[in-house]
Amino acid sequence: DQPLRAHAEARGKFIGTALSTSPLANETAYRNIAATEFNQITPENAMKWDATEPNQNQFNWSGADAIVNFATQNNQQIHGHTLVWHSQTPAWVQNLGADAMRTAMRNHIAQVAGRYASNPTLVSWDVVNEVFDDNGNMRNSFWYQRLGDTYIADAFRAAKAADPDARLCINDYNVEGINAKSTAMYNLVRSLRAQNVPVDCVGFQGHLSTQYGFPSQVQQNVQRFADLGVQVRFTEIDIRMLTPRTAAKDTQQATYYRDIVNACLAVTQCAGITIWGFTDKYSWVPETFPSEGAALIYDENYAQKPSYTAVHNAL
Ligand code: XIL
Repeated sequence: DQPLRAHAEARGKFIGTALSTSPLANETAYRNIAATEFNQITPENAMKWDATEPNQNQFNWSGADAIVNFATQNNQQIHGHTLVWHSQTPAWVQNLGADAMRTAMRNHIAQVAGRYASNPTLVSWDVVNEVFDDNGNMRNSFWYQRLGDTYIADAFRAAKAADPDARLCINDYNVEGINAKSTAMYNLVRSLRAQNVPVDCVGFQGHLSTQYGFPSQVQQNVQRFADLGVQVRFTEIDIRMLTPRTAAKDTQQATYYRDIVNACLAVTQCAGITIWGFTDKYSWVPETFPSEGAALIYDENYAQKPSYTAVHNAL
């Protein structure tokens, strides 16, 4: 049968996966599935600040370049992740005063986005990630504490200067359905665009759990953002369950995957769906959410799960 990417291409959408550098270097099965099934790649960690600029003005491109080269060889697009975030950012950044922090942010964006600006494989960036709390207030991160919310517009302008052709996204979790957080994000995107800040894409991470139910009004939520004139995308889908797996839980998970794919297909401006990895062998879920796991579409032995079939059949 045809791989996922063939079905997605026929629909005019991407189907992507996050990739991790170590299995990419070391495991043939991992490389083969990543190359065959997906037409879009997001580096899971290799482009984050702690990986790319561990010390001020000392850049390390080894992981980022390895993933970009893999994607180029396999005719895949890269979504860069992520330029400005409160997590996985070195202490040296967090300890800077306001002026130095703003300068360091602009320099980081210029260097990292600038490195791939002329590379046709890298087409988009998460410029800022997770700027909200779940109640819709701005997250009280070190960015916000030092710079207020001005760092957000500043980051988008710096990214536009570094890579004028890239699509520039704001990305968050728990914003898939209509709720206080997604409404805050909607108001921010609308206000930024009214000020000509170059945000032209909204990413909905989609770290879901069968324990907490499918978010409400996903298609309507994504559509309201699209109606602002931005591209929308699901950026980090995984659907965890209380372990161990059972046939019933697998079936329920498969319906969640199906419903995310269908929400994207129903919205013209939805560019595609990225799954946060593909094999349960390397998912971040078990070490992050106690007692949960089995969130992806292949099991630990690279066998396709019912969720693979659900994505395949929906596309
Ligand atoms: C996660 C990675 O999957 C882990 O390997 C890492 O240890 C922590 O970060 N939201 C994001 C992603 O935007 O960057 C996170 O990725 C998952 C939550």
